[in-house]
Amino acid sequence: MSSTSFQPVQGMPDIAPPDSSLWQRLESTAREVLALYGFAEIRTPILEHTRIFTRSIGDTTDVVQKEMYTFEDRGGRSLTLRPEGTAGVMRYVANAGPEALDARLYYLGPMFRSERTQAGRYRQFYQLGVEALGPPNPPVDAESIALQRHVLDAWGLSGSTLQLNTRGGTEDMRRVQEGLKQALGPLRERLCDSCKRRYDMNVLRILDCKDEQCRKLAETLPAIIDFMGDEATRYFDELLQCLERLEIPFTVNRTLVRGLDYYTHTIWEVLHPALGAQDSLSGGGRYHITMGNKKIEGVGFAMGLERIIVALRNVDLEAMESDERPDLFIVSHGREIVAENLLVAQLLRQKGVACRIDLSLRSIKAQMRAANRSGAPYALIRGELEMEKGLFLLKNMEDGSQEELVLADVLKKLGRTRDI
Ligand code: HAM
Repeated sequence: MSSTSFQPVQGMPDIAPPDSSLWQRLESTAREVLALYGFAEIRTPILEHTRIFTRSIGDTTDVVQKEMYTFEDRGGRSLTLRPEGTAGVMRYVANAGPEALDARLYYLGPMFRSERTQAGRYRQFYQLGVEALGPPNPPVDAESIALQRHVLDAWGLSGSTLQLNTRGGTEDMRRVQEGLKQALGPLRERLCDSCKRRYDMNVLRILDCKDEQCRKLAETLPAIIDFMGDEATRYFDELLQCLERLEIPFTVNRTLVRGLDYYTHTIWEVLHPALGAQDSLSGGGRYHITMGNKKIEGVGFAMGLERIIVALRNVDLEAMESDERPDLFIVSHGREIVAENLLVAQLLRQKGVACRIDLSLRSIKAQMRAANRSGAPYALIRGELEMEKGLFLLKNMEDGSQEELVLADVLKKLGRTRDI
């Protein structure tokens, strides 16, 4: 077997210590903020029937056309590893009772897209996603954007910018598509090969093609807002007023379209300069999805956690850094003492003291070196002599001083217990 057989699948990295503790902190901070807004967690399966995604995300989108991991199971059913979280949540809502139609749900977990990997773009990546179900209503969209801002602030991530646009309602979208086709008709031959296909399949996507020539052509097109009816324009204006009232900075980007078909009215992206080409930290919008005979409406967003970490590393990771050092390191002098000291470690841990214990039966010198490396402010040393006296030798690792104490006094001395 070649050595590559033991590598993870390309674009699907491990999240291991010490990074995993940063992930946990990001997740727990986000959960606290989400609770303030009344959102509860939903955990949908990672595998869904393929049609759940094709019907909601849209047959002609890049995600469905090129990026899904789809396979047949042993029963010949077409299944797909979820490329995003909204579709699965809508499948859940469609099957749940009417009370789910105004649910406020969030999810945190891995998504899968078979994209070309590069910095900030993976094939397995984590999203924190939020969905507020309910009919179109600008203040609800504004609240969702405010929640997103709150989570970014709680993580200590500065420097991101919010870009907004509107796709209007279904009728507006039809007019936009017709209008863009008309304007692009004479320019069609100058589009890249993908956009030539997009012209027929999904003309809106031409607006966010990365090809230089297509970008230049897109700049000459009428803005999609020009095709919007009064209702869609009023909706968007009301949202902008709400955001101003909430003092949330934004820019309106008239070419922003978002790559998923389920969006109507408000769409947005949060960008960060630390991400370079993959500059989207988060994307969201209002949507309208039909599942079976149910029409489900809502607004939400999803943030890519790997990208959040890239941006945090660039800006101020210290804000997220926490003290991983143990409170105490237990050193045993002699084989017979180890099991006794393990009992002490358990007692201390039950009192909320984070302690590490060397169970290796190494020399005291080697154990003390390990204590030093652990960064623990104290070492607790016990050999036969101390056992006989019912005492412990507590060594202050900073100034080297040591004293003999009973266990209750060791606890007092540490003065620091953690909630457990
Ligand atoms: P999306 O824009 O496709 O939206 O993805 C949201 C975020 O996921 C992106 O802004 C990015 O941070 C992250 N992301 C996407 N693809 C990758 C990748 N290959 N590697 C790393 N990170 C990635 C959605 O998924 C919608 N479901 C969001 C939504 C929820 N809209 C309404 N509700």
